[in-house]
Amino acid sequence: MKIFNEKKQNKFLEHFIGLIFFVIIGLIFYKYDIDFSMVILTFILFVYAKFFRKIDNLPSNLDLCILGMIAIWIPLLTITTFKISGYGISVIGFAILITLLFENLELSFIFSVFISLLGASIGDNNLGIGISLLAGSITASMLTIRIRRRFQVIKAGFFAGLILFIFAYISERRLSPFVMSGLDLPFLRDLLSVCLINGLLSSFIVLGILPVFEYIFKVVTNISLLELSDFNHPLLRRLILEAPGTYQHSLVVANLSESAAEAASANSLLARVGAYYHDVGKLVKPDYFTENLVRFKDMHKKLKPSISKLIILNHVKEGVDLAKKHNLKPKIIDFIIQHHGKTLVYYFYHRARELEPEGKHEEDYRYHGPKPQSKETAIVALADTIEALSRTLDEPTPSRIEEMVREVVKSRFMDGELDESSLTMKDLEKITQSFVRMLNAVFHTRINYPKDESRNNKQTKSKENKS
Ligand SMILES: [Fe+2]
Ligand SMILES: [Fe+2]
Repeated sequence: MKIFNEKKQNKFLEHFIGLIFFVIIGLIFYKYDIDFSMVILTFILFVYAKFFRKIDNLPSNLDLCILGMIAIWIPLLTITTFKISGYGISVIGFAILITLLFENLELSFIFSVFISLLGASIGDNNLGIGISLLAGSITASMLTIRIRRRFQVIKAGFFAGLILFIFAYISERRLSPFVMSGLDLPFLRDLLSVCLINGLLSSFIVLGILPVFEYIFKVVTNISLLELSDFNHPLLRRLILEAPGTYQHSLVVANLSESAAEAASANSLLARVGAYYHDVGKLVKPDYFTENLVRFKDMHKKLKPSISKLIILNHVKEGVDLAKKHNLKPKIIDFIIQHHGKTLVYYFYHRARELEPEGKHEEDYRYHGPKPQSKETAIVALADTIEALSRTLDEPTPSRIEEMVREVVKSRFMDGELDESSLTMKDLEKITQSFVRMLNAVFHTRINYPKDESRNNKQTKSKENKS
């Protein structure tokens, strides 16, 4: 009940912040004598995005207000304060920033329409400026979506600047046919410079300020994810050297998760990188985890189940501490905190019950949660268990693999572990099929093929002949 009230309060606060935002932009527009229909248009666009389209990955109202404020000041500062041409309004940079942060073209388009029309409105109601800025920003968004390398951002900025120039040229020619009848080279040069500087400079600036915005909005871009997937990261290097079993386990979990996330239309790169780091907490006591036991003796043999349980449960907390020490992004830390949800440390719970049938409380042997909160963390949680169980299969035939995968997914679903992850039944079926397909491919290579007797005989005979 308390949670419900808190949720209701937060929702109320969010709507209140949204309303205040529109009052403030109304006042700004009034002060700068901007067409008031812009406020109404913005309001309609955001209401559409928030309530009717229910766009995925949409930032909170507070985040939208911060972005909205920046969006207003970009054209105001460019034209009113710095007296730069309307074509210099950095809508390209803003479109790139939004697309990189939220991987969402619709949201980027809404902001592009807003800034472009605002620019046109401030720039003496020159619709040509608005259309040119819109063409440039749409190009920038289209070229930036799902990119993974910094260089691609610069490329997107350059081409968006070129498109901005083409539209600006057409627009200016239409407005002043006499001036532009011949080749007015100085004018063309100035226009090209403004447009290209707009595109290129804003893409450089966006790359520079991206980490700040990732921090403010608690998101992680594909560019940062790719940098985190480098195995030269100190935590991953330590995993390779100090806990090779956990490293191998994390690699398989990453492969399983990436393919499943792709199937469920989730962020596959985020799932892969999250899986790399999900068990870094095992670095503190690597020899107490089964996957590293090859090199060590069973460290739990002489321990009480209650102590063993503490060591196992602690790898989550220790993982979070290590991740914070190495400045990992909150989105990656989510995988460490959520990958066990509130599941039971089954083995030690049963050992405890065998030793002391009375008085052992199941809750003491559960991870502290929270349950997976996103599609990606839920997928990694499932892949984690499935990878561990797949190693215990004696004869991994396709039917046994499928039976095991379906059992894990079903039990997690029935336990309510996936309740907060926004995975649908359809997603779960796609994820299951993806896990089965991937595991079959892994185990296919390990199946012992029947020996070719005739070939063996020939080889033996030739060896005999040699000797
Ligand atoms: Fe774990
Ligand atoms: Fe794991």
